[in-house]
Amino acid sequence: MTVQKENILSLIDKLRNERLLCADEYKELLLCKDTDVLNYLHRQAQEVAVRRFGRRIFIRGLIEISNTCNNNCYYCGLRRENRNIARYRLSHDAILACCREGYLLGFRTFVLQGGEEDRGDGSWYVDLVADIRHRFPDCAITLSLGEKRRSLYQQLYNAGANRYLLRHETHHALHYRQLHPTSMRLEHRLQCLTRLKEIGYQTGTGIMVGSPRQTVDHLVEDILYIKKFQPAMIGIGPFIPHKDTPFAHEPAGSIETTLNLLSIFRLMHPATLIPATTALATLASDGRERGILAGANVVMPNLSPVAHRADYAIYDNKASLGAEAAEGLQLLTNKLAAIGYEIAYERGDYQPASE
Ligand code: 5AD
Ligand code: SF4
Repeated sequence: MTVQKENILSLIDKLRNERLLCADEYKELLLCKDTDVLNYLHRQAQEVAVRRFGRRIFIRGLIEISNTCNNNCYYCGLRRENRNIARYRLSHDAILACCREGYLLGFRTFVLQGGEEDRGDGSWYVDLVADIRHRFPDCAITLSLGEKRRSLYQQLYNAGANRYLLRHETHHALHYRQLHPTSMRLEHRLQCLTRLKEIGYQTGTGIMVGSPRQTVDHLVEDILYIKKFQPAMIGIGPFIPHKDTPFAHEPAGSIETTLNLLSIFRLMHPATLIPATTALATLASDGRERGILAGANVVMPNLSPVAHRADYAIYDNKASLGAEAAEGLQLLTNKLAAIGYEIAYERGDYQPASE
């Protein structure tokens, strides 16, 4: 074995034992192309996940409540300026019906995800959360609705929401500018994340891997930010172009880099909930399984009404059927069984390490 290979294997051991590397060491790991080394990284991360969670994968029912968005992120098919999309908003009752269906299928977490839109004072969301909390007292409610006022975050929390997903997308100010119009500010995104955590939400953040102009140094910055923030959830998926966006002709992110980063996060944050994302499953037919074998422990099948799923196209060819669909739980069960895993039906709240 070469000295260089030995060095990098020992970095992985160090990361597992100390949960921390310095910036240059993360960079070295991210630049590594040696398959033996990367297999070792994934195996270590998988082992850490299995030690903590067993060979069990939490499921979250994803309800895409609206594809209307006021923002204009350059990468996303739901952006305001995309006119080639049929906009919809699910009604209060339609969302409750999704929860009911999900509950019967065994889901105990509902994720309400939607474009960032102005709904007056936000009381519509508060009533919705309160109603779900009342009807499904044993379920976790996760929100993924973007940047809101602190008071609204607080009201939603008081109404019974438990978790909030808000990816920071990139921690590098210039890169953030390259992905978003100037009306969106990185400082505000980070401020929202801090507030969510202060309020008491189990807060998730994350990034797209391989978004246009992203460099390995940006990824290192993201790792350092996430280490500092200590999120309850980390969402990472490859960037995938959407044909009606300014980034239509940009290449998709790398599955390998996504998996390497996923494993690094698992080794750094053993207790964190890390999904094998739909974007991974969209880019590769075995993406979900590879995510799990690299340390992921959550999947988020789609519980949205089938008639609207194609309209929630944040990127091209987004998977929403088969094992990515709530009604496909049997298929998911079979696919997990094939790699020696099973579905965990409980709520699966974040329980920070006490070891
Ligand atoms: N490719 C991959 N992920 C995307 N997202 C938005 N657009 C894309 C895309 N084209 C991700 C962002 C956002 C989440 C809801 O979806 O990270 O936070
Ligand atoms: Fe809107 Fe979110 Fe898409 Fe940006 S990523 S355009 S905020 S739905």
